[in-house]
This record gives sequence, C-alpha cells and structure tokens, in this order.
Amino acid sequence: MYSRLARPAVLDIRPYEPGKPLEEVRRELGLRDLVKLASNENPLGPSPLAVAAVRRAAGEIHRYPDPVCHRLTLALAERLEVEPSWIICGNGADDLIRLAAEAFLDPGDEAVFADPSFITYRYAVQLMNARSVAVPLEGFTLDLGRMAEAVSPRTKLIFVCNPNNPTGTAVGRAALERLLERLPEGVLVVLDEAYREYVADPDYPDGLDYVRRGYPVLVLRTFSKIHALAGLRIGYGVAAPELIGVLRRPRQPFPVNVLAQEAALASLEDAAHLARGRENNDAGKEFLYRSLEERGIAYVPTQANFLLVRVDDSRAAFQSLLRRGVIVRPADAFGLSDFLRVTIGLPAENRRFVEALAEGG
Ligand SMILES: Cc1ncc(COP(=O)(O)O)c(C=O)c1O
Repeated sequence: MYSRLARPAVLDIRPYEPGKPLEEVRRELGLRDLVKLASNENPLGPSPLAVAAVRRAAGEIHRYPDPVCHRLTLALAERLEVEPSWIICGNGADDLIRLAAEAFLDPGDEAVFADPSFITYRYAVQLMNARSVAVPLEGFTLDLGRMAEAVSPRTKLIFVCNPNNPTGTAVGRAALERLLERLPEGVLVVLDEAYREYVADPDYPDGLDYVRRGYPVLVLRTFSKIHALAGLRIGYGVAAPELIGVLRRPRQPFPVNVLAQEAALASLEDAAHLARGRENNDAGKEFLYRSLEERGIAYVPTQANFLLVRVDDSRAAFQSLLRRGVIVRPADAFGLSDFLRVTIGLPAENRRFVEALAEGG
C-alpha cells in the first residue's frame, strides 16, 4: 500500500549501498581483526583538537544548533579569502547536492553528470523528477567536452566531481575553463571538490578562482575526508551570494548539529593534523602503486585517497577480501565490474589489503 502511495520518483531510486559497516561484518563473519577501506574515510581519525571540542560541546546538545553556522562561516571566509555571504554550510556535502537539486530542478529539467561519478548526483536529480544525462568517462576521466555537448535548453545543472569518485582522476584548469566558457547562460556548474586536499597535480584548478571571476559555479567541500569528521556530517558550499541566498530557501532550519560545528572549527585550526593526513595518503599511495606493480596488478593512478584496482571479477574479489577481514568497495556498483575501489589506509592496513589480494587472486 505504501508503495502505491509513494511518488514514482522515490520508488525509482535504488537505496544507496554504503560501504559495509565494521560492526555488520564482525557479526556476519565472526571476524575481529578487520580493516575497513571502503568509504574513503581518513584512517588517522579526527584531530585531537576536534575531539576535545566535541567533548566541550557535549553539555550543550540540549540546545538547537546555530542555524547559519556563524562562527564557522566567519572562520572559513577568512581562510578562503571570500566574503561570509559566499558560504553555506550543510549536513555534509551530500546535503548541499540535494539542496542544489531542490533549488533548481523542476520536473523535466535536466542535469548532466559523468558516468561513473558520485552516485548522489543521480539520486538528487531523480528525486526532483528531473532527467539525468549521464556522460561516459573518457578512459577514467571526466570528458568535459562531451558533458558540454550534452547540455540542452532544459539543462540547469552540471555536476563536475573533481577528483572524480570512484575513479580518482582529476580534470585540469584548461579543460574546466573550456567547459565554463562554452556553457550557455542559465546552467550552474556544481564543482564537487570533496577530495581536493589530497590532490598532487599542480594543474588542479581551485574552484574558488572561478567563483571569484563570476562564473556560475557552486564549489562543494567537506569535513568528511581529510578533516576526518565523516561521522558528524558537515560540509560547505561557496558561490555568489545570490546563489547562496537561493540555496538557503529550501533547506532545513538546523542542518548542521552542534558537535559538527565545533569540531569543524577546531579542525580548521589543526594544520599539522591535515598535513599528517596528506603525508599518510601520499606514502600509502606510493606503497600501493609499488606493491601492485610488483604483482602485475593494474590500477588507475589517483589524485584522491582511494584508487581503483583491477581484478577479474569485482564481486568475487570483494568477497574473497572480506573473508580475509579486508572491506573494500566492489566497483561493479559503479559499472566497473573488473575493479575494486580501495581507500588508502594506514601502512599496516595497506599491507593487509595487498597481502589479502595476492592470497585471494
Ligand atoms: C565526491 C564526493 N562528494 C561528496 C561526498 C559526500 O561528502 P559528505 O560526507 O560531506 O556528505 C562524497 C563522499 O563520499 C564524495 O565522494
């Protein structure tokens, strides 16, 4: 009966399949010693400053949070050298993706994104009864030329995931600028930079430059990845104040909880912790590249904190690793049936992954 009551757009959505939670795998397999490399989390854990801030704020959780994240917005504005009116905070970048869809997409409008790319774009578009226009990658990288060609008079949004999840590749300045120059008026680029702090490529564009130059760009960033606050849910968007004003309209009154606001503020202060996160990722990436090459296993070089590793069969390899206590992400869910997506972990976790892969292969 509720299926009949539900909106068809809702029933069309396949529920998001998250990386398997540790507890569930422990229960199912009776394994104690598990390694989770499935959700692109920061293996170092949060900054001690963020943990202390959460402890301090715990006694305040009977109060509603600051609805506009005032102090955090000021801190971000100072750091990013933009006006506070350019910033909107949300319950994770996911929340802001949904908000962009709610604010701009009417039924029948179109949104362009890459395939495969971050799956939340498709869900957000579907929910609005809008049309998803999915443009295949070129190799493993976003094909911004074809994405521009896919724009029609009904297109309102283009989601550019840079670096792209699940492939880890990034587009450079020239390609992004060509896209921005080609777009007709009335199309907004949602530039998702969730993994930007991990990028090593000097040609990686800073989305804020394009906001400053007046292009129709909404930059999305998150505290879930290098800031290691995924469990608290907080991200932010940066765009022209008029656009931020539009996004504020459909949002919930208190989207970001008290603890998340305090932890994010504290985390911004801990540059050393962020540097450690980057160093761990760089070292882990080099180790994985070397180990996989030694074993003749192909992979896709990455700009993020995860990488695609070639296997014969995504599901079989996932199950085999799971039995050995290593949780990764089978990439068949993204249409890549001969790849696993593995998050770069701590040195010992990366070693466990490589050994388990070699044993099970
Ligand atoms: C590309 C991309 N954007 C956004 C998000 C969501 O981030 P948040 O945890 O801030 O909702 C993720 C999380 O995996 C992601 O991979």
